[in-house]
Amino acid sequence: MSRGLLGVPLGEPGSGRERYARAMELYQTGAISAAVLEAYRVAAARDAQPPEPVLAERGLPVPEVLPLAPENTIRALIAAADLYLAGLPGPGISEVRQGIAAARHGPVSLVAAEPNPVVDRHLPEALRALAATHPGLAAAIAAARPHLRWITYNGYPRAEIGEGFATGHAFASILGEEASLPAADFDFGLFLIAPQVLYRDHHHAAPELYAPLTGPHGWRFGPDQPLLLRPAHVPVWNPPHQPHLTKVGALPFLCLFGWTRDAQSPAQVIPARDWAELEALRLAH
Ligand SMILES: [Fe+2]
Repeated sequence: MSRGLLGVPLGEPGSGRERYARAMELYQTGAISAAVLEAYRVAAARDAQPPEPVLAERGLPVPEVLPLAPENTIRALIAAADLYLAGLPGPGISEVRQGIAAARHGPVSLVAAEPNPVVDRHLPEALRALAATHPGLAAAIAAARPHLRWITYNGYPRAEIGEGFATGHAFASILGEEASLPAADFDFGLFLIAPQVLYRDHHHAAPELYAPLTGPHGWRFGPDQPLLLRPAHVPVWNPPHQPHLTKVGALPFLCLFGWTRDAQSPAQVIPARDWAELEALRLAH
């Protein structure tokens, strides 16, 4: 297979568009230029023709980067995420890293990429912000993105959790019971919430680590507590049943999350009187 095909075989229906999607991932991580991406957009209509002539016509190089096989994008993401966690201070980091170490060499189960509107709309902006300081981690997330099972969770009663969160978030478990790699009573992955959305007060039995990759975002740890702004890369550790709320800032909220046990015990919303006010609040950059 020629390098310009970006790992997508020639001739399959939709393969031109799939190459364009892979080129978009490379563009988002800075690996190719806007002009090369545009050439892939033009070539996307022709499943049976390689992109090289379109690139050559425009005097552009064939991308140097060979995309990883899908399984290896997941393993590379785990490696990048674990390396990132290793540099963070605070409680919960070592517990989560132990869970990762125990499960990361298991078999990878790949899923057919299903579009998720929250991910499609907000992940690129979150990754652009992350890439400014952590380009390796941003690139690893972008590469694994199409092979992760993104879920917009519907386990909360809609009236309790609110419309904004119900339709404005997505998560992808990387290690866990239903994840890309199996792990018993442990859950580790990515969590994305749209800008300015309120994730209302809630609690759960699972001890939880959030490692926010964007920020600042607002947090409180009890309905009677003040909202605190925390920047990116300052982890939050929620011991079992500690109430917590997240008010997303101007950037999409993207974090690594870890549940170190009681991962099947569902979360519960805690009533509060000021949700309407917090939902209307607009946080600045
Ligand atoms: Fe939580």
